[in-house]
Amino acid sequence: MGERVLSVEKLKMEGPGKLSGEITVQGAKNSTLPLLAATLLCSSEAVLHNCPMLSDVDTAMRILRTLGCRVRREGHTLVVDPTQLTGDEIPENLMREMRSSIVFLGAIVSRLGKARLSFPGGCELGPRPIDLHLAALRKMGLHIQEDHGCLECYVPGRLTGCSLSLSFPSVGATENIMLAAVCARGTTVLSNAAREPEISDLAEFLNACGGKVSGAGGSVIVIEGVESLSGCEHTVIPDRIVAATYLAAAASTGGQLLLRGARSDHLQLVLPVFEEAGCALKIDKDTLHIQAPQRLRAVKNIRTMPYPGFPTDAQAPVLAMTCLAEGTSVFVENIFESRYKHTGELLRLGANIKVEGRVAVVEGVSRLSGAPVQAPDLRGGAALVVAGLAAEGITELTGLHHLDRGYEDLEASLRGAGACIWRE
Ligand code: UD1
Repeated sequence: MGERVLSVEKLKMEGPGKLSGEITVQGAKNSTLPLLAATLLCSSEAVLHNCPMLSDVDTAMRILRTLGCRVRREGHTLVVDPTQLTGDEIPENLMREMRSSIVFLGAIVSRLGKARLSFPGGCELGPRPIDLHLAALRKMGLHIQEDHGCLECYVPGRLTGCSLSLSFPSVGATENIMLAAVCARGTTVLSNAAREPEISDLAEFLNACGGKVSGAGGSVIVIEGVESLSGCEHTVIPDRIVAATYLAAAASTGGQLLLRGARSDHLQLVLPVFEEAGCALKIDKDTLHIQAPQRLRAVKNIRTMPYPGFPTDAQAPVLAMTCLAEGTSVFVENIFESRYKHTGELLRLGANIKVEGRVAVVEGVSRLSGAPVQAPDLRGGAALVVAGLAAEGITELTGLHHLDRGYEDLEASLRGAGACIWRE
């Protein structure tokens, strides 16, 4: 990705235009980041295929380099050589750039016995504490001193496996614990673990490197500590949130779309929502076809939940899709406190949405009209694209640095499927 002058860039789209064509789903951002952290534990080169080209992935590569790793990109393949790991400190600017920089903590302390980092950024969804991460690592023997926004961590000897139970199945905490435990002394039993496909992807990588992780994808993960991990070659799973976003774009424009490389088994509670809205889905081995009706129907009640529930990350694009549906759709956001910022921008396009606390009520309107809008966060930005493509006239989206964190070549993909969208 080249350097971009972010503040002046705009994504313009002219609608309404039906999507019609094919899009290949990129690799999952939320898998790539913990996998890159995991490479720190390897005693030789690790090769990751299907890594998306995103600014968050660039940030993770910079973190690895700061720690002394050699990292090179060959298209969508990243090669990490962690053998010369020297640094134990992640500078504040990199910690602030993305919240998932915290998943490096478990891997760094496991490898070096110490780490120094600041609290992570990424607070646009409301408070995002890391108490569950820290409590678990402390129980494994890590001393953590919190001073002036900085975490000073060390462990005398090795981390020690133990029995852990999360009060909420946090994705990041589960990943951090897996990374800390895989080379710890003894066995870790983690209860109420997150069950997201990205957790299973991480377990698969660790096991391919010689780790002994079982139960990932279920609520109890057992990690038998091993002495060391070798490198391996691994292919990142497709991005289920990006897939959901493109499905929502096809649906809101009344179009049809073939998604290549999508894993429908990772979209269990997402696909029925499209069917409820009146779309016809055809699922094949690794393709997914959606045909939208002339006008969508409202969806009754979408409650975001930890996996396998409806993902909070898909709430914004799917909510945007329902703005033009016939009837009233209701959303309940159970994961993050402040995840309706896109609704204020959708109102500018003519949507009718009322938000009260965790609940958003969308009264479908018969038309949206293009307007200047701003991406409030990553998935909120995607929601504005979903609505903008279906709105009459030109929608001008700013705040593109949010979108570039999670969507590789969004406008080229959509243009390839017939959308009138361009970056200025
Ligand atoms: C990951 C995803 C993000 C997704 C989220 C929920 C990545 C890089 N990001 O974020 O896209 O929206 O899962 O599916 O994978 N919590 C605590 N204390 C903690 C940790 C979490 O209270 O120590 C709370 C959070 O504030 C939030 C909830 O738990 O309300 C879920 O957070 P978590 O599952 O940890 O999300 P992330 O790993 O940050």
